[in-house]
Amino acid sequence: MDFLDFKLPTPIYKFDKNDLQHIYEPSEDTFLFMDALELEKSFIKTLEPTIILEIGSGSGVLTTFLALNFDLDNTHFMATDINPLACVKTSETIHLNYSQLPLKVKRPKVSIFIDDLAQSIIDRLNYNIDMIIFNPPYVPTHDITDNGQSGDFNIINRSWAGGLNGSEIIFKSLDNITRLLTHNGIFYLLLCADNDIDNIKNYIKNKFHFNSCIVLKRRAINEILYIVKFYKTHPFM
Ligand SMILES: C[S@@+](CC[C@H](N)C(=O)[O-])C[C@H]1O[C@@H](n2cnc3c(N)ncnc32)[C@H](O)[C@@H]1O
Repeated sequence: MDFLDFKLPTPIYKFDKNDLQHIYEPSEDTFLFMDALELEKSFIKTLEPTIILEIGSGSGVLTTFLALNFDLDNTHFMATDINPLACVKTSETIHLNYSQLPLKVKRPKVSIFIDDLAQSIIDRLNYNIDMIIFNPPYVPTHDITDNGQSGDFNIINRSWAGGLNGSEIIFKSLDNITRLLTHNGIFYLLLCADNDIDNIKNYIKNKFHFNSCIVLKRRAINEILYIVKFYKTHPFM
C-alpha cells in the first residue's frame, strides 16, 4: 500500500509552546499507528468492541482517530496516561474535533483517567476489554527517568524514555494488558528495532500465549518502527 492510499482524516490537535514542553506531540510513531489502525479497520469493526482502551494517550489523537473514523457507535473508549496534562489534552482533542461536527453526529462515550499502566482498573475490568492500543516510551535510555542530559527529570521524558533496550515500560505493561483483555481480545503495540522485537514477541507468546504479526513497518529518521498486533484467536487465521 502506498503512503497516499491512507485516506482517513487525521484528527486536529492544538499544541502551544507550553504544551510542547509537557505533553508528547504527535510524531512519526503516532502517524504510523494511525496508518496501521486504518489498515485494520475492517478487522476492528468485526470485533464489535464494547471497550477500547488506549494506554499513554498523550495528545489523544489515536483515540480520537478511532472514535471519529471507525463507526463504533456502541463502543466505550477509555484513555489513560500517567501525565495529568496529557489527560487534559486528550479531552481537549476529542472536544476540538467533535465541536467541528453537526450536533446530529453521535458523540463518543469516552472516559479519561490518570493512571500508571491502567493499574487502577485491573481488578474491576480484568478480562473485559476488547482491544488495547499502546504507543509506549520505547527509546533506549539508562533508566526510565533518564532525560539523556544533566538537569531535572521532566514528565515529558516519560513519554519516550524506555530504559534498557527501550523496552522496560513495554515489559512492565504486559501483565496488565494481557489481564485486561477478553479471551478474544487483541492489542496493538508500537515497537522499534532497538527493542529486540523477536524477544518481546517470544516472551508474550511463551508467557501469555498471544500470537503476533507485524501490521506495518516504517523507517523514520533514525529508527525503524513497527506496529505489532497480538491476539490469541484470530477470526481470519
Ligand atoms: C510515545 S508517547 C505516545 C503518546 C500518544 N499516544 C501518541 O501516539 O502520540 C507515550 C505516552 O505514554 C505515557 N506514559 C509513559 N509511561 C506511562 C505509564 N507508566 N502509564 C501510562 N502512561 C504512560 C506518556 O506520558 C506519553 O503520553
